[in-house]
This record gives sequence, structure tokens and C-alpha cells, in this order.
Amino acid sequence: MTENKQPTYNPGKGAGEPVGVAILGHGTVGSEVLRLMEENSDAFAHRIGGTLEIKGVAVSDLGKPREGVDPALLTDDAMALINRDDVDIVVEVIGGIDYPRELVLAALRAGKSVVTANKALVAAHADELAAAADAANVDLYFEAAVAAAIPVVGMLRRSLAGDNILRISGIVNGTTNFILDAMESTGATYDDALAEATRLGYAEADPTADVEGHDAASKAAILASLGFHTRVKFDDVHCEGISSITAEDIQAARDAGYVIKLLAICERVTDEQGNESVAASVHPTLVPKEHPLASVNESYNAIFVEAEAAGRLMFYGNGAGGAPTASAVLGDLVGAARNKVHGGRAPGENTYANLPVADFGDVTTRYHIDMEVEDRTGVLAELAAIFAARGISLKTIRQEESGDNARLIVVTHSARESNLAATVEELQKISAVKAVNSVIRLI
Ligand code: HSE
Repeated sequence: MTENKQPTYNPGKGAGEPVGVAILGHGTVGSEVLRLMEENSDAFAHRIGGTLEIKGVAVSDLGKPREGVDPALLTDDAMALINRDDVDIVVEVIGGIDYPRELVLAALRAGKSVVTANKALVAAHADELAAAADAANVDLYFEAAVAAAIPVVGMLRRSLAGDNILRISGIVNGTTNFILDAMESTGATYDDALAEATRLGYAEADPTADVEGHDAASKAAILASLGFHTRVKFDDVHCEGISSITAEDIQAARDAGYVIKLLAICERVTDEQGNESVAASVHPTLVPKEHPLASVNESYNAIFVEAEAAGRLMFYGNGAGGAPTASAVLGDLVGAARNKVHGGRAPGENTYANLPVADFGDVTTRYHIDMEVEDRTGVLAELAAIFAARGISLKTIRQEESGDNARLIVVTHSARESNLAATVEELQKISAVKAVNSVIRLI
């Protein structure tokens, strides 16, 4: 059994003096955190049993005009703000990895609880951050790091702490869900849908992290770590984005009764010898139209959890944006402040299961393969033999006319990812296959 790092007792400082809060960052999220804190200060005092006081707001550019913030609170020296004696909790809403890591570690080591919305930081450095929080006997909260307003971190840490999670499948990136939904519902091309997502402010000027799945992979790492009590890092997540999805793929999916979603899939894998491991991946996925995730449209997020005792659960809502992200940050802030006043700590990181992270090749999945093949006698038999050689059973085969060739759409039964990938590689080598247009996995 590995060490189970449960918190030691923190007696609390009592309600006599306010809980001092430092906010690092005043962008889309930071400004909403500040606005909502001020608007709800009386209510928060009741919910905490003590008052919150903002001690400072750290920004990178003091010259930038900032509405709704007392200029006396602004500073460009985040480290000095963190180290003030009257700061009890640090809220990090800057983004990026290296600089926030330095600040968050400094805060934890100085005995301040930390609330962060930073998924990339948590996905890359959770071990180090959790160890620093444990050593200082303070809280590290990061509800906003996964799907913003949807309380999925708290749900996994607390509500489902008495259950065994089998699988978590999530739409955890709003930009890509918007793009795929626009392609599905309006027939838009990928480029047009991305341009619309950018115009509406969903996609960043550089949308790479969204469309290539990196943002979702950070969230998958966090979900898998919490769900399976095992450290899963960003680099452990197999990641494919949506930039190669075409209008033809969307149409083929629709014809077969599916929609394409970018899913983060975290699952417990048991091999033939009964050995358990954890797998985490992000990739475009064909979701049957009747599955609850298929109806998650526009930029909404949803997390579908399968647990041993609870069965199937779905959590749906706003996964991005200033106010929804601030909602999650403030929930954490209220929790951290309660602990500062009354004592105790939030449930911390618990990686006691310490399962190995599975090689993606060992994961069981199903493929939808869309290819262009020669239209002549014996081609189907030749293809079927290639699938059979690797023990892959075919579920459906659909053939359409395509000029001089035939378009063949094959859906497989479940098989090991490595066998499916090797089969596609082999198909691409034979002369009967003119092109493999797309390969998309099915949920
Ligand atoms: N860019 C993300 C999204 C939001 O589109 O969902 C922050 O993770």
C-alpha cells in the first residue's frame, strides 16, 4: 500500500479577523472573480462564518485601464503580495505554466491555501503542488481547471469518493464542440466553423491548444487522476485533435446514426491476466445519436461518468467563459476560507491506487474506417482477410458508388487499438485500397 497523504489537522484562525485574499491575474476570469466577490460579500460572510478581504490584485501591466478595481489594490509584484502576512488565500487565474507554478509553490510553501483555475499547471505538476500543500497543511483547490462551472472535481473528490469509477467520458472543450456542432448542424466546413468560433470569441487567436486537443488532454489528466486515485499527467494522455475532420466525415457519421464529438476518455483497463491500469485519451469519437453526450451542442461541456454503484451520471453546463469559471473559483474560495476560519482541510490528492498508465495500444476500441477501394471481384474478400488476420471482427460494411471505385465504410467490433492501427496501416499498402479517407473511433 502506498502512502495515503491525508491532511493533518489545521485548527483554523477563528472568525475574529478577516480572511485575506490575493488575486493573481485580472483578465476575463480574474475580473469576474473580483466583481462577484464584491457583489456577494455579505452572502459569502454568512456562508463562510467569517469575512473575506481582498488584499491585492497582481497584474502584469499596471498602466492598463481596469474598470471596477480599486487602484490601491493593484500591484505588479505578485510574489510580494503572496508573502504578505495578512494574505491567507491566493487565487491564481493567470494561465501558463512556469510563472504560475513558481507563484503557486511559493504561496503553498508560505502557508497560504491556493485556488487555481489553471488546468495546464495542475495536469503537469500536480504531484509537486499536492506535496507542497500537504507539507504546509493548506488547501489546493482547482475546480475551475476542468469544465469551469460544472462541479466535476468536487464530484469526484467528494460525492463519488465512496464509489469505484469505471469510466469518464467528457466533452471538455467548448471551442471544439462548437466547431463540430456547427459542421453538423449547418454543413459548414472545418475552416468556416473555426472562423465563426473565433469571431464569437470561443477560439483563441491561436486555437492550436483547443483544436489539437491539448486543452482537453490537460483536463483528461486531471479527471483520470481524481477518478482512479492514480497520477496521470498531461504527457500520459494520448491526444488527437479535430483539425482533420471533414464535412464528409460528418455526413458519413450522420448516415450511420452518429455525431462526431471530441471526447476525453478516462478508463480503467483490465488485461487478460486481470492486471489493472488506467488509460486516458482525447480524440474525435463517433457517438451514437441516442447517447446523452450526442445532444451536447454549441460550446457546452458535459462529463459522463460510469461508476460501479452509482451507475451512469451526466454533468452538463458551461465549461468556459469569465462568469462560469469565476463561479467555480468562488466555490473553492468559500471552501478554502471556511477551512481557514474553522480549521480542517479539503480532501487532498489521493493517489493511493497508483495504477500503471496503460499504453494506448492496449486499449480496446472500435474503428469506423472510410475508404476508397477498387470496384472489382475479390476486393471484399481480400480486405476481410486482412481484418481477420488480426482477429478483428467486422460489425457493419456499407458500400457506395464512387466514380470508377467504390466507397467502403467499415465499422469494426471491439479490438485492441494496436491491432486496429496495424490493420489500417496494412490496408493502406495494398493496391485494392486507393485511399483511407478517415479513421474515427467509436464510443
Ligand atoms: N478554451 C477552452 C474551451 C476553455 O474552449 O473550452 C478553457 O479551458
